[in-house]
Amino acid sequence: MIVTNYYIGIDLGTSAVKLLLVDETGAIAGSVTKEYPLFFPHPGWSEQNPVDWWSGVLIGLEELLADVEKSQVRGIGCGGQMHGLVVLDEDDEVIRNAILWNDGRTGEQTDWLNNEIGKARLSELTANIAFAGFTAPKLLWLKQHEPENFARIRKIMLPKDYINYKLTHVHACDYSDASGMLLLDVKNRRWSKEMLDICGVSEAQMPKLFESYEVIGTLRPEIAAALGLSADVRVVAGAGDNAAAAVGTGVVGEGGCNISLGTSGTVFISSKQFGVDPNNALHAFCHADGGWHLMGCMLSAASCNKWLCDEILKTTDYAAEQKDITEDKLGSNHVFFLPYLMGERSPINDVDARGVFAGITMDTTRSDLVQAVLEGVAFAIRDSVEVARSLGLSIQRSYICGGGAKSPLWRKIFANVLGIPLDMVKTEQGPGYGGAMLAMVGCGLFVSVQEAADRLVELSFTTEPDPALTERYEQQYRKFRKLYPALKPVFPQIH
Ligand code: XUL
Repeated sequence: MIVTNYYIGIDLGTSAVKLLLVDETGAIAGSVTKEYPLFFPHPGWSEQNPVDWWSGVLIGLEELLADVEKSQVRGIGCGGQMHGLVVLDEDDEVIRNAILWNDGRTGEQTDWLNNEIGKARLSELTANIAFAGFTAPKLLWLKQHEPENFARIRKIMLPKDYINYKLTHVHACDYSDASGMLLLDVKNRRWSKEMLDICGVSEAQMPKLFESYEVIGTLRPEIAAALGLSADVRVVAGAGDNAAAAVGTGVVGEGGCNISLGTSGTVFISSKQFGVDPNNALHAFCHADGGWHLMGCMLSAASCNKWLCDEILKTTDYAAEQKDITEDKLGSNHVFFLPYLMGERSPINDVDARGVFAGITMDTTRSDLVQAVLEGVAFAIRDSVEVARSLGLSIQRSYICGGGAKSPLWRKIFANVLGIPLDMVKTEQGPGYGGAMLAMVGCGLFVSVQEAADRLVELSFTTEPDPALTERYEQQYRKFRKLYPALKPVFPQIH
């Protein structure tokens, strides 16, 4: 087949931006990754400069398109890290660094929202309660701690919306990403006037809302010229990275499940109907296909393994660190790891929680620690899966995606800790692929996100659980479950 059209998918992540060139058959024609710095100005704080994102995108696009017939590029779709507060002044310049999804500085504002406004009222207004990483508590923090910056805000947006703004000069946001601000009436897909009032901001300061696959505009002529693209290239609203990743694994419509093992770890359950977890342990958000989803999000997932290997063991050869973890060692580790390196969101909602190795003895080896980290992350994801199961959702199998899912050992641990088969898709490219699919829908190649998924997403292989190992992990999970409640009262006292 002669390819006539290309679509660009952008995954605006926490460690890097990944750009994908996808042709109209769904095949990957190119990919470029550009890293940018992440700042931790205080323990538990996490910031990035939106200008670094934009230069990564621009340089990345130039590289991605170097050998491509540029007139064949039709559309761009972005999946971005969620919840980050980006504030622009009256000249649309960034006022301060973005405060990211895994930033824990807003404990006080989060408690105020949950206790003074009240969880029940928040849930009525937004279908969610406050979590430290959500955008509304960050606005309250800014108002209290940087009033001069707060007073200068003309537009509030999320990370990928800043990229879309730089591409098109349109202030836009999609429903899936907007859901994580705690400012959206998720059920009715509109800003919550009352929540905006509570945070002291107006609707004029908010971006215009779109479905993820809707076109927000075309490229600014100067950007089109700089990249050699046509100014008719369409930019769709895009999605939060988890919704975009779910689109990329075909988890759209009713009852699909996707587990993403990136910097964060998420369990994403799609639905055609709006629904809320009565305890709000799982987030109730809009999906990028026009429906909704429930999601549990742990703040440090593959990043726990990255931290252990890069920072402590001083190696980037993750596979080599896993090779001594042989079959017989699975399900019988005496070391446990609590993966709360940035505090934790789902389901425990505790900014004070911290990472812990427990059960270390004189015969503990380096690979026992690596294994404990891989297992601790899987146990913590199971915590969210258990919440979903307690709501009556039957999770019989799941897709798995993200950097961590590339490790066969980690996939095996996950399949057995969860006791379900885990499917990988052929084009496992995370949120960027979903972004490109949304652009295809926006450009009219498919009539719906469902059709794009049906046509483009194919199963590659499945990691099956083994009943004996699942049983061993069941025992291990019960032990893991005892650790956090025992340490919970201690955490606030040790930092
Ligand atoms: C989801 C969340 C993370 C970020 C990671 O609620 O906070 O998954 O989107 O980029």
